[in-house]
Amino acid sequence: MNMKTVIFSHGDKGGVGKSTIAAVMVSRIVDRAGHCAIIDGDAKTPDLYNRYAETPGVDVHAMQINYAGAASVAMNQLAELVEKSDSPFIVINCPAAAGDTLDELAGMFSEVCAMMDVRMAATYALGTKDECAGSLAESLKNGLMSFVNEKDRMVLYPVFQGDQSTFPWEKDPARPDYRGGESIFPKLEPQFVMQALEKTTGHLSDAVSRTDIGLTLYARVSIKHWLQDAASVLDPLLFPSGWNDDRGDDDDA
Ligand SMILES: Nc1ncnc2c1ncn2[C@@H]1O[C@H](COP(=O)(O)OP(=O)(O)OP(=O)(O)O)[C@@H](O)[C@H]1O
Ligand SMILES: [Mg+2]
Repeated sequence: MNMKTVIFSHGDKGGVGKSTIAAVMVSRIVDRAGHCAIIDGDAKTPDLYNRYAETPGVDVHAMQINYAGAASVAMNQLAELVEKSDSPFIVINCPAAAGDTLDELAGMFSEVCAMMDVRMAATYALGTKDECAGSLAESLKNGLMSFVNEKDRMVLYPVFQGDQSTFPWEKDPARPDYRGGESIFPKLEPQFVMQALEKTTGHLSDAVSRTDIGLTLYARVSIKHWLQDAASVLDPLLFPSGWNDDRGDDDDA
């Protein structure tokens, strides 16, 4: 029996690839586990919710996680969604500035997960901007990332922003003491392919076979390879050793 998993796609502020990473996770989870729930933490522009709203095997929810001044209301709602979901995986897509809410109350959220026997995991997508320096170190010290077990957390360098050396985390004084996964998250190129992909809905892999969205064969092959590379980065976190691919037949009673 696999342990139910809740996984945060967390990261630095503004456009570092959190939603893209979450979308790759969801498709990979449905492939291997048959079902996935989504909590999109940005109720104003819920890109992940919109992508999967009509997709079989995916339950979608949207709520505001960076709820200024009312962090406990947001955390209560988040924990309640996790408590009520009967999906084997719940992907939480963090909005920009989720840290204020999450980092404050992640300890209590992790206790709730422990009470439910739910594994809590997270990716952290790094940014290259100066304002990103220190954010991960802070989260690892007191925030969400500090409540995730070493083997269940992974720092990602989304290299569409630049190569690994351009990320402040690379030279952060806290990095040598960090314990957990670290990996490069691959870039989909050329850029117009990513733009076309972002206009589609449903599983990202569907774009590989679709002929109605004006993508060349080359573009479709690029998406396929990118998804394979991204899956090999995320798989160890999503499906740790001991994870059983047998979906069982105890649901849909
Ligand atoms: N792996 C990638 N390869 C190429 N381009 C990417 C990749 N990931 C993200 N991008 C580009 O960066 C943009 C922002 O990505 P995304 O929406 O995933 O970031 P985000 O961290 O969720 O942003 P926000 O903080 O606004 O929620 C995308 O529209 C896309 O153009
Ligand atoms: Mg996003």
